[in-house]
This record gives sequence, structure tokens and C-alpha cells, in this order.
Amino acid sequence: MPKKIIIFFGPPGSGKGTQAELLAKKTGWKKISTGDLFRAEIAAKTVLGQQVEKYLKAGKLVPDKLTASLVEKNLRQKASGFIFDGFPRNRRQLKDLLDLFKKIIKTSEAIYALEVAVSDGEARERLGQRRLCACGLVYHLVYNPPISAGVCDICGGKLFMRNDDQPKVIAGRLKIYHRQSALLLDYWRKQGRLIKIDGEQAIKKIHEEIMEKLKSLKLV
Ligand code: AP5
Ligand code: MG
Ligand code: ZN
Repeated sequence: MPKKIIIFFGPPGSGKGTQAELLAKKTGWKKISTGDLFRAEIAAKTVLGQQVEKYLKAGKLVPDKLTASLVEKNLRQKASGFIFDGFPRNRRQLKDLLDLFKKIIKTSEAIYALEVAVSDGEARERLGQRRLCACGLVYHLVYNPPISAGVCDICGGKLFMRNDDQPKVIAGRLKIYHRQSALLLDYWRKQGRLIKIDGEQAIKKIHEEIMEKLKSLKLV
């Protein structure tokens, strides 16, 4: 059986992390979220964390070599499928990913890119009201609020904002996304492997739509 590979695309705040998580829970496929992995390294104060902290804080891309080696390590885990969230982000990373597939996955006929499309205005609004818990859960003050204000429903941890969710940094992240993503989306479109989803719907509705599309492609 070829391994299933889903690669999420979407601007900061589009909900790709939210949807990647729901899909991973449903399928049991492993999620590789480079942003989450970098943030975990920073929180654990590892050497890699110290190397990448300044890039995340400024909303700039981490150097490709560091990113590719982190992806390689994660792609070596045992799984029937992988869900990418936030990688690849430019032409070099696309090449790195295709090389890693050849080296590690060998063959896969089941690679699809999934674009979660939202306007910049919606993305900005979502990021301003995003709150996180150290346990990894992501909330939104209006669309996905915790039961009691400021506290995680599951672990009781205190909710906080991501330090790159400041208006100036968000503007830079959106700019980088728009500059780099067209080329990548074009690549998958030409391969006939691009699925586009309207990201301006309710979280549950988007998840259902993703499941429908994957079912019609016989991936789930
Ligand atoms: P990364 O962590 O990937 O951040 P991002 O791309 O900026 O995207 P976000 O995580 O901010 O948004 P999301 O689309 O996941 O939205 P979410 O689901 O949280 O990268 C961060 C940094 O790490 C980069 O700037 C870079 O420095 C570094 N990095 C990462 N990957 C790299 C790479 N490959 N190369 C180099 N550097 C890299 O949702 C947002 C909010 O909206 C939440 O509050 C959520 O609850 C809410 N929400 C979600 N869906 C909906 C909905 N349908 N309706 C209403 N609200 C919703
Ligand atoms: Mg995310
Ligand atoms: Zn928690």
C-alpha cells in the first residue's frame, strides 16, 4: 500500500494547523508541523531551538537546511501516512521534500496538496484572537473558545498568545506566504494533485469537506 501524503497550504491563520490536527486524529497519520516542532525545540531550549528562535520571533523563514533535517527525522517515523503543515514553503524546500520522498518513502501514488483558502483580512482577525495552551491545544476567543476564559479545557493550563501574532509580524508572514506559495501551488496544480478548500467556513464544515474529498480520491 502506498503511503498517504497530504500537504496543507494556506496563509498564517488559515486554519491549516487546526485542520491538520483533526485529520491526524481521524486517520492516525502522523502530522509533521514544522512550526510546532520548532516551537517545541524552543520551549525545550535545545541547540536547534536556540538556533531558530530569532527567525520565528521575527516571522522569517528558518534556513532551509535546518528545516529539511528536522523534516527528515520526522519522516523516518513509522506511519501509514503523513500530514504536512507548514512545509514546504519555498522552491528549495519543495525539492528537499521530493528528494526525501525518494529516499525514505520510495513510492507513493497518494500525494495531495490541500489549499485552505482565506482572505488576508480573515487571517489577521483569527490570529489576533488565537490563544494557545502549552499542551498544544489551539483556541480562538470567538470561534473556538475555552469553556472558562483564559484556561485550557483539557489540562487547565493558562492560555497565551504566540509571540509572532503581533500585527507587524503577521503582515510580514503574510507577505512571505504570498511571495512563495504561488509557485508551490502551481506545481501541485500541474500535477493534478491540488485540492482547494474554502477556509472561510466553520471548522467542522471544513473538516467534513476535506474528508469527503479524500474519500472521493479513495485515500480514506
Ligand atoms: P507556522 O507555525 O507554520 O505558522 P503559520 O504558517 O504562520 O500559520 P499559523 O500556525 O499561524 O496558522 P494556521 O494556518 O496553522 O492556523 P490555526 O489552525 O492555528 O510557522 C511559524 C514560523 O515557524 C514561521 O514564521 C517560520 O519562522 C517557522 N517555520 C515554520 N515552518 C517553516 C518552514 N517550512 N521553513 C522555514 N521556517 C518555518 O488557526 C488560526 C486561528 O483561527 C486559531 O485561533 C483557530 O482556532 C482559528 N480557526 C481555525 N480555523 C477556523 C475557522 N474555520 N473559522 C474560524 N476560526 C478558525
Ligand atoms: Mg499553524
Ligand atoms: Zn492544555
